[in-house]
Amino acid sequence: MNRYAHILKPVRIKSMDLDNRVVMPPITTMMANRDNSVSEANLAYLKRVAASGAGLIFTEVAAVHPDGIEGPGMLGIYDDRFISGLSKLVSEVHKQDRKVMVQIYHVGRESKYQLEHGRAVAPSAVAGIFKMIPREMDQDDIGEVILCFGQAAVRARAAGFDGVELHAAHGYLLMQFLSGLSNYRLDKYGGNFIERSRFILEVIREVRKQVGQDFPISLRISAEEYAVGGYTIEDMLEIIHLLVEAGIDMIHTSFGTQGSPGGIVCPTIEYQPGFNAQLAARIKSVVDIPVIAVGRYTNLLDAEKTLARGDADLVAFGRQHLADPNFFRNALQGKEDATVECLACNQGCIERLYKGKGIRCAINPVTGQELIYPERAKGKLRKVLVVGAGPAGLTAAFQAARLGHQVVLAEETANIGGQVTLAARVPFKDAYGRWIKKLTESAVREGVDIKLGQAADLDFIRDQAADVVIIAAGARNLRPAIPGVDHPHVIEAWQVLQGKAELTDYTVIIGGGLVGMETADYLRAHGIFEVMVIEARPRSPVKISNGHGYMLHQRLEEAGYRVCLDTRVIRIDSDMVIVEKSGREKILSPVKQVIIAAGSSSCNALGNVLEQANISYHLIGDALRPRSILKAVEEGAHAAWSIQ
Ligand SMILES: Cc1cc2nc3c(=O)[nH]c(=O)nc-3n(C[C@H](O)[C@H](O)[C@H](O)COP(=O)(O)O)c2cc1C
Ligand code: SF4
Repeated sequence: MNRYAHILKPVRIKSMDLDNRVVMPPITTMMANRDNSVSEANLAYLKRVAASGAGLIFTEVAAVHPDGIEGPGMLGIYDDRFISGLSKLVSEVHKQDRKVMVQIYHVGRESKYQLEHGRAVAPSAVAGIFKMIPREMDQDDIGEVILCFGQAAVRARAAGFDGVELHAAHGYLLMQFLSGLSNYRLDKYGGNFIERSRFILEVIREVRKQVGQDFPISLRISAEEYAVGGYTIEDMLEIIHLLVEAGIDMIHTSFGTQGSPGGIVCPTIEYQPGFNAQLAARIKSVVDIPVIAVGRYTNLLDAEKTLARGDADLVAFGRQHLADPNFFRNALQGKEDATVECLACNQGCIERLYKGKGIRCAINPVTGQELIYPERAKGKLRKVLVVGAGPAGLTAAFQAARLGHQVVLAEETANIGGQVTLAARVPFKDAYGRWIKKLTESAVREGVDIKLGQAADLDFIRDQAADVVIIAAGARNLRPAIPGVDHPHVIEAWQVLQGKAELTDYTVIIGGGLVGMETADYLRAHGIFEVMVIEARPRSPVKISNGHGYMLHQRLEEAGYRVCLDTRVIRIDSDMVIVEKSGREKILSPVKQVIIAAGSSSCNALGNVLEQANISYHLIGDALRPRSILKAVEEGAHAAWSIQ
């Protein structure tokens, strides 16, 4: 029997035949034109992700009403003028013999843009995540939006889509009606959970009425709201049969809402693949239409298990399509190891959307940059020297070699990966190490000559006679000028994460940024009880709005660790640390070890040397300014792509 027999079993959804059960769920890209029409970037992106071979591709969400769109850069389907662009999206997928459905929605109160323009509407005048009050919809508004859903579905059919999905998940308008946290209405659209489902039911019926019996309709739900006082799967099970009777053909079982603790909609690295398949299974147990499971799937085997257990009929791989859309084909060819798994870091995808920027992927520089991604070198093939084998240097080396350039990668230490190899040692982050390993293998396969333990001094650089020099030498730990910092029991976070330090109770960590907090988490995982993190800033730089940050704070709190904010270290003694908060000094004692995690500074001295020697160079990644993996990878790729 084929290893992926369940995945490869065809499935029919109304009039739509799928040749496998892998799904690309809707992923908003914010790459549409400002007027909400389909852009060239949308087309190039969808063409690439649809090449994964997934049986069913969902487009990103498109708004059914001009006041129901999150803002510029999002797709619209609220006017006939969008049909021609949308039909181009369809043909990008159909050309690859895949099926494509468009997801449609109304954002309701969860758009800063609509709120600021005074156009946001919602079931009740209750603020959402933006803490601004929307206008309560009256009966006319409700009737208009219901009609708009129907008209949008007709446009979807006219554009050639194989079906339409109604977005009733993640805290947008349809779900705002369903949730008692956003629907306080006293009319027939409010009341208990079943009564609050009236709006969704009327939308489904209208869509069915307008598109006819044959056109597949999927409904995306958050099976659990995951909010304090929110609805549960038990509530949802009460209305599922009503939703099916109203005319849907498939249920796409997501979870969570805007502002769910830990941002569970895009689950972080702490969650295991398929962690929420049991929600899909509960839904599936009461319906006889296909059910899609979603959540942290990165490899086909986990999806196969979900299907084999009968938990769902199809499995969606969201961010995996951004990190490496080849995962499906690799698995079918028995080359599972070739796939780069999504790190669930959210840096390039959802976090950029929150900033109103188009999506990228922290570890795949092609995503969101399809229009500038070069297949071949721009000009002559060059001799390239890359200094530093962290994520920026490694990416630059791989990308340059892939384009045919002759690349030497010089790394001063004996290790590849820079700080990422340290990140890979903190709890849950082992996938970071696998990513570096695969990127290294790809670089070697493309012919990069990696020289470990090779310091890049002027003589070496002159010897190499490279046409292009890229400095990606990373950053080093900052040692703050605190009296006592040279005591032998004061060590650096990097030493701890390298496994070079003996761990002990009564440890003080100076610096509560991500490195300090993750070092604390490392200590927690190694059974250390007494740890205090000192951070000078009044607010933790590790934000709880970020899922990983939320979980990190929670784990440290549960371990009894204290994170002292707005606190400065005055002096380190042999067995105590003196700190100051609000003008008052305090002695922390006993203290057996002090770990410095007070930020890093760029290793860019080589740049000055090269300038004096009149050798031009590119400075990228942390060597330019310590920042994220996303920036390191992006700058590495751009440096390579720009070689001519
Ligand atoms: C950048 C980004 C944009 C998303 N946009 C949408 C969307 O438009 N509609 C939707 O229903 N879900 C959206 N999602 C949620 C995904 O469809 C999916 O449910 C989520 O990423 C979890 O699946 P995964 O772990 O396989 O990525 C988005 C997720 C990300 C990361
Ligand atoms: S940015 Fe991170 S979470 Fe988003 S797709 Fe890339 S690896 Fe996955």
